[in-house]
Amino acid sequence: MPAPIVAVTRSLPDPGIAPLVAAGFEVRHRDVDGPCPPEELHELVRGVDGVFALLTERVDEAFLDAAGPQLRVVANMAVGFDNVDVPACTARGVQVTNTPDVLTDATADLAWALILGAARRVPEADRLVRSGSWQGWRPMDLLGLGVAGKTLGILGMGKIGAAVARRAGGFGMRIRYHNRTPSPDAAALGAELVDRATLFADSDVVVLTAPSTPETHHVVDAAVLASMKPSAILVNVARGPLVDEAALVAALRARTITAAGLDVYEFEPRLVDGLTDCENSVLLPHLGSSTIEARAAMVELACANIVAVLGGDAPLTPVNRPDPRG
Ligand code: GLV
Repeated sequence: MPAPIVAVTRSLPDPGIAPLVAAGFEVRHRDVDGPCPPEELHELVRGVDGVFALLTERVDEAFLDAAGPQLRVVANMAVGFDNVDVPACTARGVQVTNTPDVLTDATADLAWALILGAARRVPEADRLVRSGSWQGWRPMDLLGLGVAGKTLGILGMGKIGAAVARRAGGFGMRIRYHNRTPSPDAAALGAELVDRATLFADSDVVVLTAPSTPETHHVVDAAVLASMKPSAILVNVARGPLVDEAALVAALRARTITAAGLDVYEFEPRLVDGLTDCENSVLLPHLGSSTIEARAAMVELACANIVAVLGGDAPLTPVNRPDPRG
């Protein structure tokens, strides 16, 4: 029997494709460190049994048509899978997997980098020093916000939200969250479930850690921003479409809120006009999981999912239960 073929859409950090090669697969590796345009992606996946995919690739009907009916697994190297049409994969009998857990700490740490960076104006201060115009210590230089004792609001208390909340204990913060269902971690974290309007209106720092779904699209819009405290900070480490980015630029300009820390963007990698001009925004290039440790673990887990499914075993971290008739 010929070896199963697995397509890998980009250059990967260590351990790279080694686990797939070790499993005896024929690996079709696009070893390029840049986005894969749809036509090239569709050519790459033609006739393969498995795909190692990234969040920048659209796994939709056109992708599935191009791949063909022998496709059995799409392993997304991300916890989020809004780039994947999961119902279409399910209907065609394609197993979808993601990489939860292994990036929880890295992403929660980055949320805190954004919270503190925005609260204490770290990038602005860095720009001042580099500009050569800093004149030494001044009593009113770049005054920021203290987070100790303030209220942290978390939208989406999953594993990453809980890890963000756990870190807030060190800052003596009061923790509130909003979820569709109560979080099992809430009691241990001392976190209080509140309705969405209260979360935004009463928090000093709001962190978005909810998945991108039709229900969470523009969950932060102009009206929500207007309801927040003028001293509030908004942090997004989830997905860009949760925030109406044009409304956020207007709010940052008008100082409706004090600052925002963003790791993700509505039209990634494009930013809406005006965002980079807002001194009170801290902008990172989607780095949530970007520690050496987390990225290696994500590659390992995505490969392990492909090895399991193509070997006839259950995936480690399934997203769907494929239709056996697909
Ligand atoms: C990154 O954004 C991920 O979903 O893993």
